[in-house]
Amino acid sequence: MGTFWEYEDWNWKKIGIWAAILLVLGAVLVVLILAFAVIKPPTATAEDALLTRFDLAPSPNASNSTTAKPPLQLLSYNATATVSMRNPNLHYAISYGLVAVAFSFNGTRFDESGTVAAFDLGARKETTLRLKVGGVDRALPKLPAGGAAEFERQKEAGRFEVEVRLDTVMQYKGRKTKCPLAVICPLSLQLVDPDVAATSFQKTKCTILRAKISGC
Ligand SMILES: *[C@@H]1O[C@H](CO)[C@@H](O)[C@H](O)[C@H]1NC(C)=O
Ligand SMILES: *[C@@H]1O[C@H](CO)[C@@H](O)[C@H](O)[C@H]1NC(C)=O
Ligand SMILES: *[C@@H]1O[C@H](CO)[C@@H](O)[C@H](O)[C@H]1NC(C)=O
Ligand SMILES: *[C@@H]1O[C@H](CO)[C@@H](O)[C@H](O)[C@H]1NC(C)=O
Repeated sequence: MGTFWEYEDWNWKKIGIWAAILLVLGAVLVVLILAFAVIKPPTATAEDALLTRFDLAPSPNASNSTTAKPPLQLLSYNATATVSMRNPNLHYAISYGLVAVAFSFNGTRFDESGTVAAFDLGARKETTLRLKVGGVDRALPKLPAGGAAEFERQKEAGRFEVEVRLDTVMQYKGRKTKCPLAVICPLSLQLVDPDVAATSFQKTKCTILRAKISGC
């Protein structure tokens, strides 16, 4: 009788050991698949943003314009934004080309002067891009007819809806395909005194637009 139980004992032990080995192998396989076969796009978050100046005024010329079209609007602004970019991949590093930065209000770009130099982002790494733009009396010929009214409405509400868009080309390390990438961050900004500069900025997830190219 005793031998029988010993035998049974040994059998369960053996099954247990094999089950453990298979479990470990399965886990290793899953990690390898996640690291090498599954490529994830980067993610981006607007961490902070500040508006210290945002004034819209009709062009002084406009007062004597005889045409019916709305007067040309001039924008004076100072804005900063901090956008973090994350590479969620376990294995693949990402290299980014030059990043073009554009700020828009009401669907109209008012600043396209910013750029960020090319950079690399290792697997599971994060980097922070600090953007700063300023301008005085920049003409907005493309602002829609309701743009000035929309500006006043947002000014009353105390928050300006400004969109930051980053355009670049990225490449996963070890892959040949160059992938156009756009990062769009909708920001809800309070106008603040630069000396006080205490804002209640809500971290915002940015939208990632990827080119529909295989390997991207
Ligand atoms: C129109 O505006 C320009 C520039 O401000 C000014 O020089 C010109 O005298 C104005 N013309 C009229 C008719 O008011
Ligand atoms: C006013 O009009 C003149 C002539 O069209 C132009 O050269 C000038 O840039 C305008 N000024 C502004 C502030 O739009
Ligand atoms: C711009 O403002 C107008 C007027 O309020 C609004 O109808 C429109 O949706 C806005 N467009 C964008 C892109 O924000
Ligand atoms: C705003 O931007 C202008 C132009 O870039 C710059 O000269 C000025 O110092 C800035 N002011 C503030 C308060 O950041």
